[in-house]
Amino acid sequence: MLAGKHILLIIGGGIAAYKALDLIRRLQDQGGRVTPVLTKAGEEFVTPLSVSALAGCAVHRDLFDLTAEADMGHIQLSRSADLVVVAPATADLMAKMAQGLANDLASTLLLATDTPVLLAPAMNVRMWEHPATQRNLARLIDDGIEVVGPNQGGMACGEFGPGRLSEPEEIVAAVAARFEKGPLAGKRIIVTSGPTHEPIDPVRYIANRSSGAQGTAVARALRALGAEVVFITGPATVRPPEGVEVVPVQTAREMEAAVLAALPADAGVFAAAVADWRVVSAASQKMKKTKEGLPVLEFAENPDILKRVSTMKTNRPALVVGFAAETNNVLEYASEKRLRKGCDWIVANDVSPGTGIMGGGENAVTLISEDGAETWPRMAKEAVAERLAKRIASALDC
Ligand code: CTP
Repeated sequence: MLAGKHILLIIGGGIAAYKALDLIRRLQDQGGRVTPVLTKAGEEFVTPLSVSALAGCAVHRDLFDLTAEADMGHIQLSRSADLVVVAPATADLMAKMAQGLANDLASTLLLATDTPVLLAPAMNVRMWEHPATQRNLARLIDDGIEVVGPNQGGMACGEFGPGRLSEPEEIVAAVAARFEKGPLAGKRIIVTSGPTHEPIDPVRYIANRSSGAQGTAVARALRALGAEVVFITGPATVRPPEGVEVVPVQTAREMEAAVLAALPADAGVFAAAVADWRVVSAASQKMKKTKEGLPVLEFAENPDILKRVSTMKTNRPALVVGFAAETNNVLEYASEKRLRKGCDWIVANDVSPGTGIMGGGENAVTLISEDGAETWPRMAKEAVAERLAKRIASALDC
């Protein structure tokens, strides 16, 4: 699985550092070559001797290790690998990375590298949940860093929650996924997601209840199959997936412009809950209560992005997938919608309040194509996304 791959493994200081020893062995079992780097704090938890004995090579520890500088400078060391893995990634290491600090060997390597980086965080649950760590995490994800874990569970400190280092086999799977060419490798797919916000004035807007969960899961599943994903998202409540190009937008018209700019693509999945209407000439200043009575808002219809892309003469993606959120007559409305919009597939779902689907974790969908309607059992949105991504891969003949 990892034959010929060179992994630079940075071991941070935390009680979970002992798992890095197992990780070295498992990476090697898969054919990987591991060059270990141990931070000063890491040395408090595992000895350099055990790390180098397992890795079968010297462990790098000091930024100013002159022998290593003569032999292989830290710049070269940071770039010689196919992947840099940080496990455990402590709150301190994450903070240094997010700020671009370079005051020891590990942080210097991480700043100097042009190699993809995979973090496996591990820390106390309060430290993980602290806004500072979450800010650093968001910044690192934005910078294109991939993250595996942390897991939920009991911790060495006696607390319970997210913060446990992912198991070595999970980290190995995440490493392997980086090198695997999925069936969608080489395919470019646009995914729209989330709601749009249509301004009334600078402080008020029209929105809907979409969380962006289903669109995010679809983008993640397509990426996991190797697609290059352009993820165009309105203001969603869930975090965008890792490893995709994120294009944040607010309004339907911004979303349309972003979609057009992202073409050509092999497929488009339009999961966004685009507002159908916008307020004509939104006020440039906050609207105030007046004696003249209630404000009257005049609406204009927003561009139908799905329809526009589906009916393009040139540049139409080979596969265009729309979503239909309905509260009644789901199949009838969704089948009609597929024909009206000109898309290839419609993923129809019932979002009436009793279903708990809008904003919830599960979805029950029917996939409508020219071959008919196929109802899938109710399942997690991630599972719907994975099934849909596989169908897209076979439809694109991968
Ligand atoms: N859609 C779009 N642009 C719009 C409205 C909708 O791209 N302005 C896309 C959505 O992303 C979704 C599909 O069209 O894939 C259906 O969205 P939906 O809101 O269910 O349909 P509407 O066009 O609003 O139709 P209706 O008002 O009849 O429900």
